[in-house]
Amino acid sequence: MKQMVLEGSTKLTGIVEISGSKNSAVALIPATLLSDGIVELDNVPMISDIEALIEILTFLGAEIKRDKQKMTIDCAKVSNKEIPEQISKKLRASYYFMGALLGKYKHVEMYFPGGCSIGKRPIDLHLSGFEKLGAKVEVAENKYMVDAKELIGTDIELPIASVGATINLMFAAVYAKGKTRIYNAAKEPHIVNVAELLQQMGAKVSGAGTHTIEIEGVEVLKGAQHRVVPDYIEAGTYVIAGALCGENLEVKNIVPEHIASLINQLKQMGCSLTVLKDSVRISKIENYKSVAVKTEVYPGFPTDLQQPFMTLLSLAEGTSKVEETIFENRFMHVPYLNQMGANITIEGQIATIKGVKAFHGSDVVATDLRAGAALILAGLVAEGQTVIDGIEHVLRGYENIEEKLSNVGAKLRVREIELSRV
Ligand code: EPZ
Repeated sequence: MKQMVLEGSTKLTGIVEISGSKNSAVALIPATLLSDGIVELDNVPMISDIEALIEILTFLGAEIKRDKQKMTIDCAKVSNKEIPEQISKKLRASYYFMGALLGKYKHVEMYFPGGCSIGKRPIDLHLSGFEKLGAKVEVAENKYMVDAKELIGTDIELPIASVGATINLMFAAVYAKGKTRIYNAAKEPHIVNVAELLQQMGAKVSGAGTHTIEIEGVEVLKGAQHRVVPDYIEAGTYVIAGALCGENLEVKNIVPEHIASLINQLKQMGCSLTVLKDSVRISKIENYKSVAVKTEVYPGFPTDLQQPFMTLLSLAEGTSKVEETIFENRFMHVPYLNQMGANITIEGQIATIKGVKAFHGSDVVATDLRAGAALILAGLVAEGQTVIDGIEHVLRGYENIEEKLSNVGAKLRVREIELSRV
């Protein structure tokens, strides 16, 4: 088990360079299965979720060369065999192999994807979309069998603008006969990034980033070169860190428009920030005003920033409100923030945050990726030392976070601890 130990009362100053998007890269890598050629990806974040995907693709027979953030993937020798449960369970995004293998081979047998603690996270919309394209879905013990004699393009209306379902249905439709339209498609930046890779391969995909995505089936997809879009959630997390304890902290290599909803909230709070072409410069101010925020699908306020943002709201004046509308269990950081001195109460999907003067250091636990990020931010500004257990959750989604924060003034370290023999 890994722990992060943070000294508090930090001042962050200097430049943080943002990496490629985890939530794009975890879809781009399975997408390479659809190609008959070699795919070169750049700006791939070096995080554990990517290692797990490489393990799955290698198991299937892909040849992968990696040089830091550059990756070359050749799926010519891939065979569509069953992915063992112990590797597919390692990360939720393994479900993208379903759409890619179905789209390419019209058959997939796959164990249920790893859930995670923020909610049930069903994939019913993925499966019903596969059925609408002509596939048969069977559930046996704890795996799915999905088969299709052929996939026929059709209209699919998503009741929820699901990121995963939108991407998986694009994958399943690229070789389908005729036209597929996905209505109420998710619009997140990674949807566009993934659609661009498919287009580079020769797929006929249009409308990504809008309400309706149209895919015209093709016969062949060739190799491509593509770059992972900057991670707007990583960017937002560091911008919030700058609002908490920055002095001219510059968050670089970003697309500011992707975090417009956060920037608007920060401005409402009285934040002093400068938005440049591919960066945001931010400094802490003394009295932040409280705000009310509701998480929504893109371009609304991202659910993935709700948890880190709550750390900042805890130190604002007055009372703030956060309504979480995307996941049913995304407040598990709250008891730990309260243990560090916050004053947050939860009623259903609404958190009420009464501003406090300061956090104090404490021993806390990261329950999930973004909850861990929220606790790191609190530890940076707390009085005294904070120890965060379960920091593996955070290392899944934030490339080199220990180095990036240390380079701008944080005093922290990650250490391995022996699990006490019970
Ligand atoms: C992706 O999850 C991200 N993960 C999540 O990021 C992110 O929070 C989420 O999109 C929303 O932006 C990856 O991209 C790997 P959804 P995904 O399908 O695709 C329900 C992080 O911190 N739903 O848009 O699973 C679902 O339960 C992670 O980086 C169904 O009911 O999200 C949720 O309540 C956490 N049936 C809502 O829709 C389905 O078939 C949105 O889910 C699919 C989803």
